Amino acid sequence: MSDPNFASGAIWAGDNLDVMRGMNSTCVDLIYLDPPFNSNRHYEAPIGSKAAGAAFKDAWTLDDVDVCEHGELAERNPAAYAVIEAARQAHGKGMQSYLVFMAVRLLEMQRILKPTGSIYLHCDPTASHYLKLLMDGIFGYAAHRCEITWKRTNTHNDSRHSFAKVADVILFYAMPEATFNPIYEPHSAEYVAKFYRHDDGDGRGPYQHDNMASPNPRPLMTYDWKGYPPPAKGWRYQVRRMTELDMQGRIHYPTHPDGSPDHSKRPRLKRYLREQKGAVIGNVWTDIRPLSHASKEKTGYPTQKPLALLDRIIKASSNPGDMVLDPFCGCATTLVAADRLQRQWAGIDLSPLAIKLVNDRITEDRGLWGGPTALDTPPQRTDLGQLPSYRTHRHRLYGEQEGICAGCDTHFPFRVMEVDHILPRSRGGTDHPDNLQLLCSGCNRSKGGKTMAEWRASQT
Ligand SMILES: C[S@@+](CC[C@H](N)C(=O)[O-])C[C@H]1O[C@@H](n2cnc3c(N)ncnc32)[C@H](O)[C@@H]1O
Repeated sequence: MSDPNFASGAIWAGDNLDVMRGMNSTCVDLIYLDPPFNSNRHYEAPIGSKAAGAAFKDAWTLDDVDVCEHGELAERNPAAYAVIEAARQAHGKGMQSYLVFMAVRLLEMQRILKPTGSIYLHCDPTASHYLKLLMDGIFGYAAHRCEITWKRTNTHNDSRHSFAKVADVILFYAMPEATFNPIYEPHSAEYVAKFYRHDDGDGRGPYQHDNMASPNPRPLMTYDWKGYPPPAKGWRYQVRRMTELDMQGRIHYPTHPDGSPDHSKRPRLKRYLREQKGAVIGNVWTDIRPLSHASKEKTGYPTQKPLALLDRIIKASSNPGDMVLDPFCGCATTLVAADRLQRQWAGIDLSPLAIKLVNDRITEDRGLWGGPTALDTPPQRTDLGQLPSYRTHRHRLYGEQEGICAGCDTHFPFRVMEVDHILPRSRGGTDHPDNLQLLCSGCNRSKGGKTMAEWRASQT
């Protein structure tokens, strides 16, 4: 694992692909992403809201860059390539384009996530089934922990041909050693009525009877207790603890109808409801309400999520001090929740208006403690050690490529060949040998600051 090469509180205005490519490997504990869902809509914030002017498109058409990146995926991750190809056949080119967009970004997320990290991908049923396959291909199917259904709205009347679509899907993947802090909710009224049937009226509230017999043989605990014979394997508690429980009135002694002790039955422990944590929360979340128009949290940013949702995710899958990243941070819901929970955090969004909202929200929250640091250039990786100058690779590359230019596939003499960064350094590319190739001077000039996929697309 490496240290992050960016400070907590960093927010970038720009494409998250470029920014994540510049981040060190294995430096983030938790990623939550709420990307566009391929819903075929254009989102705009209402005029007059804090977010007025913010907009993003959520409709995808296949462009030439997608096609080139799709081709490169075949080599980098054949599983992702196969999933995207299947989606193209089943759904069409718009879905293919959307999944190429997601796949190249998820590959970066996989690289920057710690081997103890977790990732939550928030989407809706438009693409959740394809995204799940993509996640299996990139993070490994064994990392899939569960699929959360979040009921985000009440039923509406737009659905004469189907059940109303009222839920989003959150795909939760985590590495084997990932943090997981179970979250509890109060037991339901039905559960309490069924299992906590006793109450002594002493203010301690309802309780249930629990077994006091040891599940394993305990020869030293086979004493008689107040005339009640020991269970076959012994009591669960030593005499001292039994005495304490008795003095606290926490043992129920069975009696005959006339009130005399019934020694044929066993004493039971009184387990009080108020001392229980509650029930572990399941994967269907109906208790987190969507933001209403009157909500104090509401900024007007399209698709803003409630803080309670992020609060739950961050508490479950990170600890104070951990680094939380939201690469599609919108109006900062994840970042505000992480900040309040004493996590480190960083966010990225394409929209400058989103960045302004991040700034406003965090600054408002922190008061005098200052706001985030807005950045517009990707970080430079520091986890690759001291790499020799990229120019020193010219001879090696000439041999490996057998003198053929990686751009036009033509053989050239050594003196005409130049070392090129496949992914330019201005876009998060590094001097690592895997990112270098030889181009003839003509191709190199024509490629300029483009990525190889963009340049190839511009050539067709
Ligand atoms: C569904 S919204 C996220 C809303 C956010 N969860 C919130 O609570 O405010 C998706 C966001 O992704 C951003 N976005 C889309 N493509 C992006 C990209 N390539 N890089 C960074 N952000 C992008 C959009 O500007 C939009 O703010």
